[in-house]
Amino acid sequence: MRVVLLGAPGAGKGTQCKRMVDKYNVQHLSSGDILRTERAEGTELGAQAQDYMDSGRLVPDDLIVKMMAGAVAKAPESGYVLDGFPRTVNQAEELDKSLASDGRKIDAVVNLQIDDSIIMERMTGRRSCPKCGAIYHVKNLKPKVEGKCDNDGEELMQRPDDKPEVVKKRLETYHEQTEPVVGYYKQHACVLEVDASAAADEVGTKLVAMLDALAGC
Ligand code: AP5
Repeated sequence: MRVVLLGAPGAGKGTQCKRMVDKYNVQHLSSGDILRTERAEGTELGAQAQDYMDSGRLVPDDLIVKMMAGAVAKAPESGYVLDGFPRTVNQAEELDKSLASDGRKIDAVVNLQIDDSIIMERMTGRRSCPKCGAIYHVKNLKPKVEGKCDNDGEELMQRPDDKPEVVKKRLETYHEQTEPVVGYYKQHACVLEVDASAAADEVGTKLVAMLDALAGC
């Protein structure tokens, strides 16, 4: 199964991807996580991406397309869920071209719909584990022990781009450059619209039911 998960920053893409990995045995390919690993490892790509990420702008398409082509090529036969990529129409076209050259295509695109007014609270309350990537929220999805990851006890951290002023810019960037990707896929793929404002478990249940019913799409 090859799925693209679209949605504004904080819509819950990472949260839902973790559920899809367990349910469908697919690999979670998050462009944001890959970029953060590149930065942590001090690579040239990480250095090139840094200013864009910290100011809420998109990293240039050529760098991202190359990086994600490498990740997709290494993904298992069971498939993957793309989180945060593609984020421009150009990236979507490049992805489709590269899949078509292997006789493949995206099976489904899930669009997590959410109002901007809900996003700020989700982003500023997000905490994540630097070791395993688990995602929590100080109010909505608390870890068992405050500030510690349930999986490995690691100290939870706040992402630098979750500051209110950067979140505001990320939302602007999303509306200008990423929302048109939904329109692109409506012409080229099967798009499943999911209301992402409900509780995470409810969103996950709906999403899985829609993917299970894919044959009817
Ligand atoms: P990236 O890491 O992809 O960030 P994003 O898309 O802005 O998305 P987030 O990871 O912030 O949010 P999410 O939707 O995954 O929400 P989450 O599940 O964590 O990108 C970062 C940067 O990298 C970009 O700004 C850009 O610079 C660069 N970049 C990445 N990809 C790129 C590309 N393709 N091209 C160019 N540049 C690129 O949930 C958020 C919080 O809400 C959590 O605390 C969670 O617990 C909580 N929550 C989740 N669901 C619910 C729910 N249903 N109810 C209540 N709380 C919930």
